[in-house]
Amino acid sequence: MKPKNCLIFGGSGQIGRHLIRKLTRNNIKVTVVTRSIHQKSYIIKTQGNAGYIDIVESNIYDEKKIRKLFSNADICVNLVGILFEQKKGNTFYNIHTLFPSILAKLAREYKLKNFIHLSALGINEAVDSEYAKSKLEGEKNIINNFPLATILRPSVVYSVDDNFTTNFMTLLNRLPFFPLYYSGRTKFTPIHCSDLSDFIYYVISNNINSKIVECVGPEVITLKNILERLLVLIDKKKFLIPMPLPFAFMSAKIFQLMPNPLLTEDQLRLLKYDNIVSKKYKSNSEIGMPSKRFFNEEVKKYSYMWREGGQFSTEKYLSKNDSDKNNN
Ligand SMILES: NC(=O)c1ccc[n+]([C@@H]2O[C@H](COP(=O)([O-])OP(=O)(O)OC[C@H]3O[C@@H](n4cnc5c(N)ncnc54)[C@H](OP(=O)(O)O)[C@@H]3O)[C@@H](O)[C@H]2O)c1
Repeated sequence: MKPKNCLIFGGSGQIGRHLIRKLTRNNIKVTVVTRSIHQKSYIIKTQGNAGYIDIVESNIYDEKKIRKLFSNADICVNLVGILFEQKKGNTFYNIHTLFPSILAKLAREYKLKNFIHLSALGINEAVDSEYAKSKLEGEKNIINNFPLATILRPSVVYSVDDNFTTNFMTLLNRLPFFPLYYSGRTKFTPIHCSDLSDFIYYVISNNINSKIVECVGPEVITLKNILERLLVLIDKKKFLIPMPLPFAFMSAKIFQLMPNPLLTEDQLRLLKYDNIVSKKYKSNSEIGMPSKRFFNEEVKKYSYMWREGGQFSTEKYLSKNDSDKNNN
């Protein structure tokens, strides 16, 4: 059978890397668009066998170049997303609303079999978050422009390549205590990146169209419990201290002056809302592909790097001799 061609935007990120591995192993050829071939091609091209990956450097708004790619594609997957706004047009509106709506128009014009777009869970509820509003507006435009589109709304996605568990483990190593926003009560349904990419492959291979699907893992876990589990996994004891909201917003105001902020005011507003299935839409389980991977078991596979002696630990490994000497 002739392999399908899948055009991927944002393929160098966490989800993209897992997805490229899944698709190419299953006889799907991928064309990955990146803004910087010099910085990203080594990450992209090592994810699949030669002959299955094409890498194209392009500005995501270069319509002439992108049209050419659509003319050879069967499916398009959009994984481009940002967590905070930056200069040079990198706004929530441009990235989450305008860009996906252009892709959806092209998907219709070039008669693609599907356009799979990664949105986010909980965006109907988070009415005061600019991130959520831009994702929701993007979804509406996509459905208008290409009604066959499949929109996936994942909860937080984790793996060794994430910016979530790995950042938390680094901070838990370095900080003397850890601040809890909203007392750590916000609920999440973390989904492992391999479960999510298995689900995207399932959508492609079963021709699942015209749906919004909430993609969640098998457990509902509060933020506080996620941090407690990570502390056990890296074998550290730290105080988790509820932070009063005015302080939290003040610190976010300062953080967001940095080029790569740890926390922004918009993220803090988003954190107020539980990130769990709304039951208004079908979930991955209801579509026939429940998540199989559990948080502790998966994070255990890479958390050793943050334990004593690990490459990201602040504590050096001491041999028995060294520690005996220190104790005398
Ligand atoms: N990770 C999660 O927990 C999570 C949860 C819910 C929803 N999502 C959504 O899922 C999608 C993929 O997530 P991810 O974690 O894989 O994302 P990611 O690792 O942050 O990266 C996505 C890719 O998007 C491209 N990109 C980023 N900023 C861009 C910009 N300003 N202009 C053009 N391209 C840009 C980058 O590709 P190049 O540098 O190669 O151009 C980047 O590798 C996003 O839409 C995200 O909102 C993720």
